[in-house]
Amino acid sequence: MDKFLIQGGKPLEGRVTISGAKNAALPAMAASLLTDQRIVLRNVPRVRDIGTMRSLLDELGVDSAVKHEEHGNRVEIRARKLINPVAPYELVKQMRASVLVLGPLVARFGHARVSLPGGCAIGARPINLHLKGLERFGASIRIDHGYVEARADGLNGAPFTFDTISVTGTENLMMAAVLAEGETILENAAREPEVEDLANLLNKMGAKIEGAGSDRIRIQGVSKLHEAQHVIIPDRIEAGTFLAAAGITRGHLKLDHVEPAHLTAIIAKLAETGLKVTPGDAGELEVYGPDSLRSADVITHEYPGFATDMQAQYMALMTQAQGSAVITETIFENRFLHALELLRMGADITVDGRRAVVRGPTPLSGAMVQASDLRASASLVLAGLSAEGETLIDRVYHIDRGYERIEEKLRHVGASIRRISET
Ligand code: EPU
Repeated sequence: MDKFLIQGGKPLEGRVTISGAKNAALPAMAASLLTDQRIVLRNVPRVRDIGTMRSLLDELGVDSAVKHEEHGNRVEIRARKLINPVAPYELVKQMRASVLVLGPLVARFGHARVSLPGGCAIGARPINLHLKGLERFGASIRIDHGYVEARADGLNGAPFTFDTISVTGTENLMMAAVLAEGETILENAAREPEVEDLANLLNKMGAKIEGAGSDRIRIQGVSKLHEAQHVIIPDRIEAGTFLAAAGITRGHLKLDHVEPAHLTAIIAKLAETGLKVTPGDAGELEVYGPDSLRSADVITHEYPGFATDMQAQYMALMTQAQGSAVITETIFENRFLHALELLRMGADITVDGRRAVVRGPTPLSGAMVQASDLRASASLVLAGLSAEGETLIDRVYHIDRGYERIEEKLRHVGASIRRISET
């Protein structure tokens, strides 16, 4: 398993190009199952989860081809036919987003067998709402030997209200509804930019979706979809992570290929702590880390609120801020595993249920730490960049799932970080 070795204490300076959003590219790849024609996606990030989604498509009997381009990869997918409508446990346990093939498979082929994802490091993460929605559209759902077996002889559009806001739930039901007969209205839908990006792709494919990006999405079913090309939106969480990296190292970075509008809540919170973030030319952000950071409380929230996917990185930043910051995690029930590793580096953090109190600033000292999930790993990288001495992060495969060559991007702006590969 690969490790990262970081020598902390160097301010970052320079330009970073932000990759395409993993959480937009994954549903876009799943959407390619909705047509027998060619779907071309560009600005697809070179991260491990995309490889897992390709393996899943391969398992279903669908070919995909990848070409390296200046910004990200170009992925071409053509789901002419399907050999086997099964998403096996081995792939779903590696990546929960595999469940995104459920809606498209049932809608186009009338049958899907998808492994239930099971537990996750950050919370229970059930998919009951995905299933409830598909049942509402007329699918029959059975749980059998750890698999969801969904069948339908044509889906029928219907109104559906989410009890809890769910990003992939909204995406799955939106993909199912585009080929359903009649109208679907999704209420209390997720408003994340990744949902809107998926709707834009589906509309290019001939779907009739209105309101994506709001909490009410209206879909008029069509009988067939067709080929399309689509450029994936920039990764707002990767961008936020680099903003925090500038903050924690008192650095100065210019980010390009970003969408500042998707970062409004993150930028506002970072500004409260003293970071100076200004938009540059189109698709650019410039950030200065202050000499002294101020603590600010934060509550994670669905978009447009402060993203849970930035909470771990924000916690690392708060270890270096003056005062106490209360961090409240409202989306996932167990997303503070990074706090325990930060403590080992000298942070002063108390966790009580869904609230963590970070008191700072405390000098961090390099240590051997272990990544537990994708964003927790990013938090440990940030801590390592600010720590005195060497930090060795184990299990960096978690970070490779969602950050494209993070160590190369960081090295390029002055960080001392290298990957130690072990076979
Ligand atoms: N929930 C249910 N029932 C459901 C679905 C969700 O109770 O049927 C609950 C979850 O347990 C959770 C809350 O609703 O408490 C929100 O979960 P959501 O379904 O929105 O999460 P997700 O769709 O599984 C996506 C991202 C996550 C991100 C969350 C929240 C993708 C592929 N994943 O997950 O990204 O944290 O939304 O914004 O889009 C990451 O990139 O590191 C990551 C974990």
